[in-house]
Amino acid sequence: MSNACLVGLQWGDEGKGKIIDILADAYDIIVRYQGGSNAGHTVIIDGSKFVFHLVPSGILHPDKLCVIGNGVVLDPAQLLEELAELKKHNISAKNRLFISDRAHLVFPYHKLLDRMSESEKGDNKIGTTGRGIGPCYADKMARAGIRVTELYHPEHLKNRLKEVVREKNKILHNLHGAEPLSWEKIYDEYMGYADRIAPYVCDTVELINNAAKTSKRILFEGAQGTMLDVDFGTYPYITSSNPSVCGVSSGTGISPKYIHYVYGVMKAYTTRVGSGPFPTEMDRELGEAVRERGAEFGATTGRPRRCGWFDAVAVRHAVTINGADSAILTKLDVLDQEETINVCVGYKNGRRTYKTFPPDIALLPECEPVYEQLPGWLVDTSGITGKDKLPTRAREYIRFLEKILDLKIIMVSVGPERKQVIRIADD
Ligand code: GDP
Ligand code: IMO
Ligand code: MG
Repeated sequence: MSNACLVGLQWGDEGKGKIIDILADAYDIIVRYQGGSNAGHTVIIDGSKFVFHLVPSGILHPDKLCVIGNGVVLDPAQLLEELAELKKHNISAKNRLFISDRAHLVFPYHKLLDRMSESEKGDNKIGTTGRGIGPCYADKMARAGIRVTELYHPEHLKNRLKEVVREKNKILHNLHGAEPLSWEKIYDEYMGYADRIAPYVCDTVELINNAAKTSKRILFEGAQGTMLDVDFGTYPYITSSNPSVCGVSSGTGISPKYIHYVYGVMKAYTTRVGSGPFPTEMDRELGEAVRERGAEFGATTGRPRRCGWFDAVAVRHAVTINGADSAILTKLDVLDQEETINVCVGYKNGRRTYKTFPPDIALLPECEPVYEQLPGWLVDTSGITGKDKLPTRAREYIRFLEKILDLKIIMVSVGPERKQVIRIADD
C-alpha cells in the first residue's frame, strides 16, 4: 500500500485539504491531478489558516515534495499569489514544488467566457466559480489549448496566441457583444509569468514515475468531489474534469497499477455550492443553522453553501466509482446540536425506489428522499481526542454509515484544526 489517492465523495468541500495535511506525514510526494483554482482547500494549524487553490495541501510539511500534474489547468497569476502568501509564513516552495510542463494554462479569455456564459444562462446557470475552468478544459479537448511548455518558445507562443485570441474575439464580440482582447497584452503578461514559474516547471511524468519505481510514497490529492465528476456526477451541473480516482492516471501519467489505496472523504451531512439537483437539501431554517455552525461559505468564492442531510445514495455511488478502501468522516461536530439526524437511504419516485444514483437528472427533482432517522448525541464533540470518548449515539451514527456504505470509517474529524481528529480504525 505505498501510494494512495484521496477523493471527495460528495459535491466538494468535504474537508479534503485538512485530511491531506494530516495524511501527508506518511507520504513523500503529494500530487494534484485535476481541477484548477476552482478548488479551495483549507488547512488550519494552531489558528493559522491556509487556503490552497492550486498548490497541493502537503506543502506545509517542509520535507515533502508537491506536484501539480498535467491534468490540472494552471492559472499562473493565482499560483504566484499562493506562493507569495506561503512566503509570508516563511514557507518556501523552491525545489519542493514541481509543475507539469504539459499542464494547460488558464488565460483571461477563459475566465471572461466562463463569466459571460454564466450570466447569460440566467436561472439555468451552473453556478461556476468563474475561474475559467470549463472553457480551459473545453479548449484542451478542442485542441485549442496552450500548455505550460509553450511559454518557453516565445515565437511559437506569439503565433498560437494570435490565432487563439482571434478566434476568441469572434466569440466574445459576436456572441457576447464584448470588447476584443489584445493578444499582445496577454503575451506580455504571460511572458512575465513564464520567468517566474520557470524554476518549478519540469517533466512531472518522469518525476512521478521515477518516484513510484523507487518506492517513494505518493499521495494523490483530489479536488472537487465525485458528484461533480464530468462523467459520474450530476451532469451538466458538474465541473469539467474527473475528480474521482479515474482522473489520476490521465492527470499525472502514472499507470493505475501504481494506485494502491483510495481514501474517500465525506462530511457527516452534505453541502453543495452552485446550482443543480440536491435531493437531501434541508429547508431554509435548518439549512441556515447548519451553514452557520459549519461555516459553510465557499473557500474560493465566499458563496453560501447549500446544506442537506447525508445522502447515502450519492455516497454509495461515489464509493463504487472510486473503489474506496476506507472513509474519513468530517464535520461530525456540526451535528452536535441535532436532536434527530436524517440519512437518505433511497430516492422514491412514484412507485419506484432508487437505491443507486440515477444518471437522469430530469428525474432527480421529482424524487423524494427516503430517510432513516437516528437520535442525535447532543454532546459537544469538538474537544474529543480518543475514540472511546465519543458519545454512544455518535458512534452509532458512524456505525450506521459504515453499514449502509459497506465501508470502514478510519478517522473522524470534529473541528477545523489539524489536531481535531480522531483515529478510529487502521487503514
Ligand atoms: P475541501 O475543499 O474539501 O478541502 O474543504 P474546504 O476547505 O473547502 O471546506 C471545509 C471547511 O470545513 C473548511 O473551512 C475547514 O476548515 C472546515 N473543516 C474541516 N474539517 C472540519 C471539521 O471536522 N469540523 C468543522 N467544524 N470544520 C471543519
Ligand atoms: P474543492 O476542491 C465545491 C462547483 C462549482 C459549480 C461547479 C462548476 O474546494 O472541493 P467550475 O468553476 O468548476 O466550472 O464550477 O463545480 N465546484 C466546487 N464545489 N468545491 C469545489 O472544490 C468546487 N470546484 C468547483 O460551485 O457548481
Ligand atoms: Mg473547498
